[in-house]
Amino acid sequence: MMTLDQAHAADAADPLRPFRDRFALPEGVIYLDGNSLGPLPKAAVAAMDDMVARQWGERLIRGWNEGWIDAPTRIGGKIARLIGAAPHEVIVADSTSVNLFKALVAALRRAPGRRTIVTELGNFPTDLHIAEGAVGCVEGARLQAVPRSELAAALGDDTAVLLLTHVHYKTADRFDMAAWTARAHEAGALVLWDLSHSVGAAAVDLNGAGADLAVGCGYKYLNGGPGAPAFLYVAERWQAALGNPLSGWMGHEAPFAMEDGYRPAPGMRRWLAGTPPVLGMAALEAGVDLLLEADMAALAAKSAALFDTMAAIGDALGLACVSPRDPDARGSHISFRHRQAYQLCQALIAEGVIGDFRDPDILRLGLIPLYLGFEDVVRAGEILGAILADGRHLEPRFAIRQAVT
Ligand SMILES: Cc1ncc(COP(=O)(O)O)c(C=O)c1O
Repeated sequence: MMTLDQAHAADAADPLRPFRDRFALPEGVIYLDGNSLGPLPKAAVAAMDDMVARQWGERLIRGWNEGWIDAPTRIGGKIARLIGAAPHEVIVADSTSVNLFKALVAALRRAPGRRTIVTELGNFPTDLHIAEGAVGCVEGARLQAVPRSELAAALGDDTAVLLLTHVHYKTADRFDMAAWTARAHEAGALVLWDLSHSVGAAAVDLNGAGADLAVGCGYKYLNGGPGAPAFLYVAERWQAALGNPLSGWMGHEAPFAMEDGYRPAPGMRRWLAGTPPVLGMAALEAGVDLLLEADMAALAAKSAALFDTMAAIGDALGLACVSPRDPDARGSHISFRHRQAYQLCQALIAEGVIGDFRDPDILRLGLIPLYLGFEDVVRAGEILGAILADGRHLEPRFAIRQAVT
């Protein structure tokens, strides 16, 4: 197990160390939940100040022609660099859930004989719930949600789209994107990747894998702030053929021609529905710009090392790690199964170590290489060990369930 001295030495040698100071991390907190809500980049404070005081306050509606109207494609083009896409294949819009809906309905309408969404049981709830809603909007459509071991067999002549979350929100298990995209294509289906837990956390190469569609969150590893807008990717070859079922005026070819009829914009702009959330996009852009400064290979190497550090601590404490040990087969968080996972999580938070809990028995800790150090992980491990040793997590106050866990 890594000692504190070794952790200090590892931090001193860490090429990513300067990024820590680019975040407003609170004193006395070890933040292991950046996979759920990324911390505040200092540049986002300045960007929001400028957006609110100058752009909104002084420029008023002139702001639309001074960068606001282009923000969805401009920021989308930046996110493209993190996911192996071309700049014109990504747009920032809506939430991940809404983007899932738009992409799934479009995929269900592509080919008349293909009306089934295949996905994994235990996928993130919104993926399953939105898929349920999408099939309700297309005649003859159905949802086939099966265990992971049955996914390949479920693909067939009627599959419209295989919907997979690249990195699993509970276990951090990562699908082999190229292999699963190829399987979907062999069956004649499209594939839609939910990148919420992989963008900024793991290597993603959508075009290298030949993927068709993807969505992802802005508020996790992109550090875009609470409720940040999400993104949508549509491979260039599908851009003319697929249509947005939420055919709002911002996706019209000429929104300010004020026509009665809908004509979709070419390219990614057709995936906009209504007016973009300009304030939220200012913070998201600051988060994305910061991440783009980091070297992805260095992030991957440090993520693996942070994981090994925490996995060794978990092993020493007798915790059951449910995340893959192979760095190429996982994202950037580690999950432990424990009967009192909720209580443990609450007891950790009381000591300033913020992770989260996923029902029914998962303690999830985000090991985010951009701003965490080895000392954070070692200290968090010491606190976890102390809690387990004295059993303080069993105090009744730690069993009270909050609305958001
Ligand atoms: C895989 C996955 N998809 C989607 C979401 C959330 O979607 P939304 O931003 O629409 O709430 C999450 C949030 O944790 C997620 O983990």
